Amino acid sequence: MTALSVSTSSAASLRADALVIGVAKGPKGLVVAAGAEAVVEAFEGKLAEVLTTLGATGAEGEAVKLPAPAGLKAPLVLAVGLGEAVDGPFGAEDLRRAAGVAARTLAGAKKVALALPTGSAEDVEAVALGALLGSYAFGAYKADVTKAPVAELVVLTDRKGSKDAKSAVERATAIGEEMNRARDLVNTAPNDLNPKSFAAIAQAAGKEHGLKVEVLDEKALAKGGFGGILGVGVGSTNPPRLVKVAYTHPKAKASLAFVGKGITYDSGGISLKPAGHNETMKCDMAGAAAVFAAVVAAKRLGLQVNVTAWLALAENMPSGSATRPGDVLRMYGGKTVEVLNTDAEGRLVLADAIVRAGEEKPDVIVDVATLTGAMVLALGNRTFGVMANDDALRTRLHETAGAVGEPSWPMPLPADLRKGMVESTVADLANMGERMGGGLVAGLFLQEFVAEGIDWAHIDIAGPAFHEAGPFGYTPKGGTASAVRTLVRFAEDTAAGK
Ligand code: BES
Ligand code: MN
Ligand code: ZN
Repeated sequence: MTALSVSTSSAASLRADALVIGVAKGPKGLVVAAGAEAVVEAFEGKLAEVLTTLGATGAEGEAVKLPAPAGLKAPLVLAVGLGEAVDGPFGAEDLRRAAGVAARTLAGAKKVALALPTGSAEDVEAVALGALLGSYAFGAYKADVTKAPVAELVVLTDRKGSKDAKSAVERATAIGEEMNRARDLVNTAPNDLNPKSFAAIAQAAGKEHGLKVEVLDEKALAKGGFGGILGVGVGSTNPPRLVKVAYTHPKAKASLAFVGKGITYDSGGISLKPAGHNETMKCDMAGAAAVFAAVVAAKRLGLQVNVTAWLALAENMPSGSATRPGDVLRMYGGKTVEVLNTDAEGRLVLADAIVRAGEEKPDVIVDVATLTGAMVLALGNRTFGVMANDDALRTRLHETAGAVGEPSWPMPLPADLRKGMVESTVADLANMGERMGGGLVAGLFLQEFVAEGIDWAHIDIAGPAFHEAGPFGYTPKGGTASAVRTLVRFAEDTAAGK
């Protein structure tokens, strides 16, 4: 695992395999960002000129290597682009992305020092988090590890309040490590990660971090009447689980429930997905991974709020025992659902978990799910959709996401779309409604299972949960840990009484 630390040493004197500096696009060409003064000096004032000769412009995503001159202890300098030059500090997301590019570019190096502009503890945290996320690699199944992630990252800062800087790096470590854990869970092949092994991982992490973990196995689920989770899992030889991970703070004034969709593989079931639509469906547990990472991070940060994560885990497979289109399930809490399409399985496991979470009367329920292809069509691959039964909560989550650098967009729950869904000829509800607005129909379905008086929001991460294109910034290919930072910041703000 990558080690992260902060140092107030000068960039010139720190021993490292590479020294990272920031450059930006100024009105008259490339400019070197603050933090790199010692490097500018070592290049005798010619650094911007040298970099320009090498083709550097300071654009976002750019990374240019050059040999260090005498006077620097590191043999290599890496200049990363911060984008347009700004008066005043760079945005936190610009810093995270630049640090991420640096860590990714320098994979294989042992020790890397980052001399990026850090005028505040928030900047230090952004650089640290970006670097930790950018150094992520999933090597579980690969023999070739010549490009191992950077082993040691040192964030340089001249900030006088180095105590603030130290706690900023500790925060980044907790959030970054838990995000990387969520990425590992998503990237793990579905023949290795199933409901049972996921539950075991949650139990082990709970033990490690002092969280209360309760697992309902298929017998307990049957006894409790969890017809949604059981109905989805019944076609698989890997039986389903409902996992509760609870973090409580003795002085907490509010309680949050985070519910995650945890389909460890979504084949579609009897309504089988065609080839071309199932290759990445190991990512269908990214919501459960996100809520799990968030509750562990809340604990590691010692937030003064109660957070319970509910992981609704099942494998959606076709078989002789699988739920058929036409079957009626009796959900936890008693509502009946006619399953018209077994590929609309996420809402079935979530419905049970939302009812169960509601029994504990949290102040807010937020569910996170790779729920619909329709949301990907609507918002693309990098933006998640936010729906809620309360406009203020929806706005708050959208703004929280923006504040931590996660693109999101508020989506409606239009009353007219509810009609198609409640019109099952045999049951209280059908698990499908109109095709148009499918992401919103799914949200409306979930809303039916939210207890009276509880504020609830639904985050559909089907687009951003799994990144199939080339890596950018601190985002690798594969699992991204989408929504984790939003949930953690939401919990922090709640703890702070916001
Ligand atoms: N897991 C999928 C949604 C999904 C699609 C996630 C693409 C990530 C990328 C979900 O279970 C699903 O199959 N939804 C169906 C619902 C439909 C049958 C009503 C969909 O979106 O097509
Ligand atoms: Mn599905
Ligand atoms: Zn699914």
